[in-house]
Order: sequence, then structure tokens, then C-alpha cells
Amino acid sequence: MKMKNTVKRRDFLQLISAASLLAATGSPLLSVASKRERVMTRNLSFLSKPYLQNPEPTAISVFWLTDQPCYSWIEVSALNEKPVKIHPVTRGLVEANNRIHKVRIKNLKPSTKYTYKVFSKEIVLYEPYKLIYGKTIESDSYEFTTMSAKADKVSLLILNDIHDHPESFPLLIKLNGDQPFDFVFLNGDMFDYQKDEDQLVEHLLDPCAEIFSTSKPFLFIRGNHETRGVFSRNLSDYFENINKGNYFSFTQGPVHFIALDSGEDKEDDNHEYSGLAEFDQYREEQAIWLESQLKSTAYKKAKFKVVFMHIPHYHSGEWHGTLHCRKLFGPLFNKYKIDLLISGHTHRYGVHEPQAGHNFPIIIGGGPNPSERTLMRLSADQKMMNIVMTRDTGEIVGSYSINKQGSGNLQ
Ligand SMILES: [Fe+2]
Repeated sequence: MKMKNTVKRRDFLQLISAASLLAATGSPLLSVASKRERVMTRNLSFLSKPYLQNPEPTAISVFWLTDQPCYSWIEVSALNEKPVKIHPVTRGLVEANNRIHKVRIKNLKPSTKYTYKVFSKEIVLYEPYKLIYGKTIESDSYEFTTMSAKADKVSLLILNDIHDHPESFPLLIKLNGDQPFDFVFLNGDMFDYQKDEDQLVEHLLDPCAEIFSTSKPFLFIRGNHETRGVFSRNLSDYFENINKGNYFSFTQGPVHFIALDSGEDKEDDNHEYSGLAEFDQYREEQAIWLESQLKSTAYKKAKFKVVFMHIPHYHSGEWHGTLHCRKLFGPLFNKYKIDLLISGHTHRYGVHEPQAGHNFPIIIGGGPNPSERTLMRLSADQKMMNIVMTRDTGEIVGSYSINKQGSGNLQ
């Protein structure tokens, strides 16, 4: 009798799992055999550790991935306070039946340490009037500290041109030693091209989580290589910048940051893009937006003004992407007196002092090969902004300091 019940239960689970798989994939063409195969190997698990995105003084986003559709939530607590459960809600519906989980935690206190843990509960059947949950899994506990609301100081680490070398993340971040930092900025070309979700996990999410991203947020703008490959249109599903923008600006401490998406490096009608690129229009849209940011009170009030852009508009050859950025953005950078441009792309690290064409320093990070990889550390207070570039050998290969009067000191 006992055996019979067990068999019945297994058959029942297989049946509902197959039904929910069909609902999740939405594919009536999936063969019965492949459905049964998935059912038999079904075992809810996290595909990534939680990683922090979109930091603000009173809010932060936590992302994570699971291998099955779930209902997910987070529990967060400040020191000596009871945990609060948070799940995202969109137009009255609690987010569910998804694998990419994103929870925005709001109403936090600035400069405050919190602990958090994420949970995912499998949805094995999702019918209009009947939902069956399966297993629940939970992460370890992690901590983060919210950004400061005061304009006192900021520090960050900058990486570029990793190009599918996950081992570079810990190697470069460790060059920072124990120096504090608020967030990490990924300045494009983390990949050669976009293949699939596994690549995102193995080549970026996993190595970042191992070294920092469960406790420190990162922001990520595309390089020209992230625009390539079959999964390139899915990339933005996995990341969230300030204001959820692909290009964006924000003030943190004494610095106003502007991040631009410089797009592809060749003409839109280049045969490599097969008629599927319109980056000229995208950059023109950004130039209009950029001028509005440069005229903003936040920009004018900031002590220091820093721009991130993967392709530098000088010192990166004469291809179309470079020249188009030069034409559109260059005059605006000069007119509104940015203090610093931070780029990558060329794989040749260097500090280019103000000169004809650009009235401000351009700092270009290296990579991706050994002895060419660099970590930049930017720190600023009310008096001084410093940027130091260290090669993977530990050698400092460039630095620049700007005092509050704006005069530079190239080293
Ligand atoms: Fe590049």
C-alpha cells in the first residue's frame, strides 16, 4: 500500500511539473520526452548569488537568478531590528513565475549597514484558479551599506575590457587591498560578445559575487563588444543602473557622474552588423540628453564632474565610433568643462593630459591580457579628486589629481 502511494505521488508530481513546464516555456512544441526528462531532473537551485545594483542613499536593488520559475522575496534588516519581507509588485501583481529576480529595497537610511537574505519558492503549477508551490530555497546572509546622502566623499573602483576573462575580476579588485570603496563601475567590454545566460553567470556574475557584488553594488555600461552576439538584446534584463538607464547620471558625494553608451565602433551599415545597428541615432539622442545634464543644477553644483564612456573620443584611432563621439560629445565636454573622462576600448592604458581637442584629462584603462590589465580607483572629497591606475603586476601606471580649483597634476 505504501509503495502504491509513493508511485502515485511521483506520477502526480511529474504530471504537474510537466504542466507547469509547458506553462513556463509556453511551447506546445516541446516533446513529451523532453518534458519528462526535465521533470525527472527538476531540482530548484540558485543560478547566481544575489548581486547589488542601482545604489542610492535610501534604496538599492538586489538581483539573483534561479533555474526554475519562482515566487521570490527578500528579508532585510538593520542592526538590532526585525527582518522585513519585501517582494516586488507591478501594477497590483506580485512578481512571480520568473527566473530573473529583482527586488528594489526602498526607504532605507543613508550610510547604514543592513543584512539581507533572498528566498525563492518554486511554482510547479500555475493555472488561472490553481497554483501549486514547490520547494523553497534561501541564500546565505549578506550585508550592504547604503550610500551616503551627504556631499562629503566618494570612492569607487573601475574595470574595463575584461573580455571574457573571469579570473581578472578577483585579481584586479584585490589590487585595491583594504581601501574602502562605495561601488564598482564596469566601463564596457566585459565580454567578447553575448552568447547566453551561462556566459553572463560564469564570466561576470559569479566572479563578481565571489569578490564583492553581494555586499557592494556595481554599475555597468556597454562597450562595443556587448552589442554583439545572439544574447546582446537580453543583456539589460540582468542589470540595473541609476534611474534604470542604459546611459545615466547621478551625484555621489562631491562628484557628478555621467555615463554614456558609446555604441559600436564602425558605421551602422558595416556588413558585420547585417542591417541591425542604428548607433548614430542612439548617440545623437544621447548628445541631446547629455547637454540637458550638463545644464542641470546637479551638474553645476557638483565639485567635480566625471564622464564614463567606453570609446574615448580621442586616442582611439579614427574609426567611425570614435569620430562620431568626437563630433557629438567632444564640444559639449569642452563647453561645459568636465573634469575628467574615463574610458577603455584601446587596450592600451594611459593618462592623456589636456591638449588640443580635449580641455580635460582622458584616462584610458588597459586589458585584457596579463600585464595590460588595470584597476582604477577614484576617490574624492571636498578638496581633491584622485584617480590612480594600477596594472595587474601591482605597479601604478598612471594617476591624476584635481584640486577644487580645478588645476590638474599629472604624474
Ligand atoms: Fe571596446
